[in-house]
Amino acid sequence: MTDTPHTGFGNYFESEAVAGALPIGRNSPQRPPLGLYAELLSGSAFTAPRAENRRTWLYRRQPSVQAGAYQPLLQPHWKTGAAEGEHAPPDPLRWHPVPVPGFDSEPLDFITGLRTVCTNGDAAIHGGMGVHLVLANRSMDGAFVNADGEMLLVPQQGSLRITTELGPLQVAPGEVALLPRGLAFSVAVDGPTRLYVCENYGAAFRLPELGPIGSNGLANPRDFIAPQAAFEATPRPLTLVKKYGGRLWHTQAMSPFNVVAWHGNLVPLKYDTARFMTIGSISVDHPDPSIFTVLTSPSDTAGVANCDFVIFPPRWLVMEDSFRPPWYHRNVMAEFMGLVHGQYDAKPEGFRPGGMSLHNPMVPHGPDTEAFEGATNADLAPHKLDHTLAFMFESRWAFRPTAWALHGGELDAGYAGCWAGLSDRFTGQRA
Ligand code: FE2
Repeated sequence: MTDTPHTGFGNYFESEAVAGALPIGRNSPQRPPLGLYAELLSGSAFTAPRAENRRTWLYRRQPSVQAGAYQPLLQPHWKTGAAEGEHAPPDPLRWHPVPVPGFDSEPLDFITGLRTVCTNGDAAIHGGMGVHLVLANRSMDGAFVNADGEMLLVPQQGSLRITTELGPLQVAPGEVALLPRGLAFSVAVDGPTRLYVCENYGAAFRLPELGPIGSNGLANPRDFIAPQAAFEATPRPLTLVKKYGGRLWHTQAMSPFNVVAWHGNLVPLKYDTARFMTIGSISVDHPDPSIFTVLTSPSDTAGVANCDFVIFPPRWLVMEDSFRPPWYHRNVMAEFMGLVHGQYDAKPEGFRPGGMSLHNPMVPHGPDTEAFEGATNADLAPHKLDHTLAFMFESRWAFRPTAWALHGGELDAGYAGCWAGLSDRFTGQRA
């Protein structure tokens, strides 16, 4: 084994926690080294084009087929697909930060503390996504496998220590973790923790095309980090929870963290958004936010994403004779936004870290009155937007908010009021 980090998005890695555990020259020898079992995890159809083919061979102490006899596990807050959402009003929606329960509160871990905010599509046909908030004050005891989708974790408060079948990843606010569909993992927390989660039922996230930007920029492949193989020294039974067909199931099984070696290109990854190479206008106008795309899950229509993961990181604003914040607009796509820390330039006050907003297709939105006044009268000297990290999950499918989101108590009933001061300024006279 090596201490050199595995770096690169979509790269092919191999890793062994015990020297000699990986077979040479074949994937499934008659007797794999060290008495291990060979097991293939396919993240794409066998016949997917080579550039999109994702799979990893695992060499483990016992195969995962040994887990069985699953029983339903009640977690009524985890919703899947449009069918489990409510009708969304044609209003912009915003939520205050949902309080994070302390250690003296009801114990909540990554699974029991998950609350679906909105969801679309249908996991059974591999389309759409769920947007969740996780409020946790305990580490998971067991392990979790999501067969319905890959999971993109965006911690907002508190760091995560993620154990995966392929090794450990530590992820702090400002970083994100991408966990492949079907890969077992467990999440440990060090304190009261809040994170946003995208459960992507659709095509796996990948780096966006760069087009005229060229061969470098945005999220560079080398800044994604995969784990090194690691396994628990002593086999132990645990509770294995599986999300399958929109429902949670549980069983008692031996720990799945028994993979001694692996090789492949279907791997969990972490990424530090501080490494994002941000591009912006150096002449006029606020560019389309697609220039901030970190990862994209394509749909079957070119250029129309099942989900884009977009960040709004610290950056310089230098545009001349321009209204620098986002423009007022209506979008055929659906936009869910969260704020990890700092201020978002279109909503300096009302959109707080840990909060959320949802602007569904054709729902008008844009800078609030305060942002409009500030941007309209600002001295357009170069200005650094600093100490900020907002993000967006943008989807072609309209989101349906859950009953918890609409009626759970944190919906900002006064959101529309943030635009009330945008008075009619028409004079009929050129200035
Ligand atoms: Fe928007």
